[in-house]
Amino acid sequence: MQLKLEGLQKRYGEQWALRGLDLDLDGDLGSLVLIGPSGGGKSTLLRILGSLETPTAGTATLDSQRNAPDVDERSLRAVRRAHGYLFQSFNLFPHLSALENITLPLEKVHGRDHDEAKERAFGCLDRFQLAEHAHKRPAELSGGQQQRVGIARAIAHEPRLLILDEPTSALDPEMTAEVLEVIRQLRESGQEIILSTHEMGFARAVADHVLFLADGQVGEHGDGAHVFEQPATEAAQRFLSKVMHYR
Ligand SMILES: Nc1ncnc2c1ncn2[C@@H]1O[C@H](COP(=O)(O)OP(=O)(O)OP(=O)(O)O)[C@@H](O)[C@H]1O
Ligand SMILES: [Mg+2]
Repeated sequence: MQLKLEGLQKRYGEQWALRGLDLDLDGDLGSLVLIGPSGGGKSTLLRILGSLETPTAGTATLDSQRNAPDVDERSLRAVRRAHGYLFQSFNLFPHLSALENITLPLEKVHGRDHDEAKERAFGCLDRFQLAEHAHKRPAELSGGQQQRVGIARAIAHEPRLLILDEPTSALDPEMTAEVLEVIRQLRESGQEIILSTHEMGFARAVADHVLFLADGQVGEHGDGAHVFEQPATEAAQRFLSKVMHYR
């Protein structure tokens, strides 16, 4: 994966979310984990990388896909379809079963026929030990199971890149471990992942590369182990010492 940010800015009215990010990462990124204080710009950056919106100024280039203020909605939509995306809270359709939650977008968005969609959806559920829950609705599943269905849905069309915004924020520690295991499996199978999290134990376990965002700016980035063991900037040191303290 190649990720290049050039003067990337995002402003909502008077509110700055990203103040000009510059970054050039190349090679097998594996999993890129965004950390940093609340309001630092993690979700905004994920939305721009996922082509859910355009920046106010500057450019984000992910492999050959470019997102900039002049990119039109049609191109954004095409890129959006190519990625797998999961938001922070379970956004499954409540009236559909786990299986239908996966088959519906496969058929409607990705144009697979019904039988293929069903086979694929069963395969994804089985992969995450969810086969026996295929016919349950979200309300009949635990939070961890719902989130695993969400991940199964996000990868069912074999996205090049999986984008997860705080995939464990609504989960208790045991369920967090389940989701962590799923993400580990995906990493081992070569899936490229960009995710944000407030859980440093989780970040440390899954991150190949870490990007610390604070106040809409790149505070620091580097090899996962390195940023956690020896943060170079004072801002990252302060943030990590604060959040690691309570673990
Ligand atoms: N749609 C929006 N309209 C107005 N302001 C927004 C919008 N989205 C984000 N912001 C603002 O942009 C800044 C960055 O928000 P963002 O959601 O990217 O932070 P974050 O790092 O994901 O925070 P958290 O860790 O709490 O999820 C915040 O100050 C936020 O209030
Ligand atoms: Mg966020």
